[in-house]
Amino acid sequence: MSENIINLPTSIPLLRDQQQRPLSDLRISVMDRCNFRCPYCMPEDKYHEHFKFLDSTERLSFDEIVRVTRLFAGLGVSKIRITGGEPLLRPGLTDLIGDLSRIEGIEDIALTSNGILLGQHAAALRAAGLNRVTVSLDSLDDEVFSLMSGGRGSKDRVLAGISEAAQAGLMPIKINTVIKRGVNNQGALELVEYFRGSDVIVRFIEYMDVGTINHWQETDTVPSAELVQHISQRWPMTPVERNYHGEVASRYRFLDGQGEVGFISSVSDPFCGSCTRIRLSSDGQLFTCLFATAGTDLKGPLRDGINDNELLQIIGRVWGAREDRYSEVRAEQGGSDKKVEMYYIGG
Ligand code: GTP
Ligand code: 5AD
Ligand code: SF4
Ligand code: SF4
Repeated sequence: MSENIINLPTSIPLLRDQQQRPLSDLRISVMDRCNFRCPYCMPEDKYHEHFKFLDSTERLSFDEIVRVTRLFAGLGVSKIRITGGEPLLRPGLTDLIGDLSRIEGIEDIALTSNGILLGQHAAALRAAGLNRVTVSLDSLDDEVFSLMSGGRGSKDRVLAGISEAAQAGLMPIKINTVIKRGVNNQGALELVEYFRGSDVIVRFIEYMDVGTINHWQETDTVPSAELVQHISQRWPMTPVERNYHGEVASRYRFLDGQGEVGFISSVSDPFCGSCTRIRLSSDGQLFTCLFATAGTDLKGPLRDGINDNELLQIIGRVWGAREDRYSEVRAEQGGSDKKVEMYYIGG
């Protein structure tokens, strides 16, 4: 038996990985499909109409997800993020949120969405127990939006979804903006201006080399320091403390009191040292890093009738053996053609 774990429900020692990092966030991808084709994530030429996505029976059922989440909660996980692909494409997602919100120990349930279906689901999601949403929005310019989304969706519909989410109380709402040099960096100020003074927090994400298909080059990434300087020239701002240990975004507050923006700098300033996240794919593979080349199957054991103690031992062994720090060692490790794709394990 792994020494990283003991049986529930006696008191549980904190699980630590090889770098002494605890496990506190579980990110659950509930759907491998998406209604966008962002070229940096699911380029249309690969994810075309004949691409074989998972069958619904290959995805973990809600009961399986809830069972696994309950075990994670027993191991110290208190934050859940629901991701995709696009999670709102998963039928009945509201029911899953309801079940997850009733698990003891789960304090925060957030959802990452491209926003297109958010308007119609926001109120029900909130009523079911979802705490907050993060919406991906790369530009307010229709043409650039279309370039970044692979010609799918519309900026107006995403903005309408954000308004509905705010009205439903899914706060704080965060906006994830991936910046790709030469494509949407010119629109950063417009995004800041649009959301300044509201309760919506824009976070700029450095474009990363996730997956194997986006032909990433370091020159495509705009280092956060450059953006910070650009935005500060227009609206002076000052750095503020992270909200919690391990928060991926560095925060800056506007000196005129009109709110804050965030910067997620996994390329120029990696944060692996405080990475407490584990990811579960929609077909039940467990990944300990966004840049992993292999996962651990939970679906097979779940469907073969594994008991909770055995499942806990698998999870404990996976986390206990974890050494990942990809962003810190990118230069040596980049270029693998086996990295897992972002749409498959969520961001
Ligand atoms: P909060 O709980 O609101 O702080 O959420 P979050 O910022 O952790 O979650 P979110 O999914 O919104 O993260 C924003 C983006 O940061 C993701 O889409 C990824 O691009 C990036 N990101 C999140 N976690 C990791 C990580 O562990 N490693 C790397 N390299 N990037 C990450
Ligand atoms: N680099 C940085 N962020 C990315 N995302 C998807 N692909 C990348 C990438 N290559 C972001 C999306 C979304 C979240 C799920 O991950 O923009 O906000
Ligand atoms: Fe879909 Fe998000 Fe990937 Fe874009 S980045 S294709 S919205 S999963
Ligand atoms: Fe965590 Fe891997 Fe991201 Fe580093 S690169 S912060 S270890 S997910």
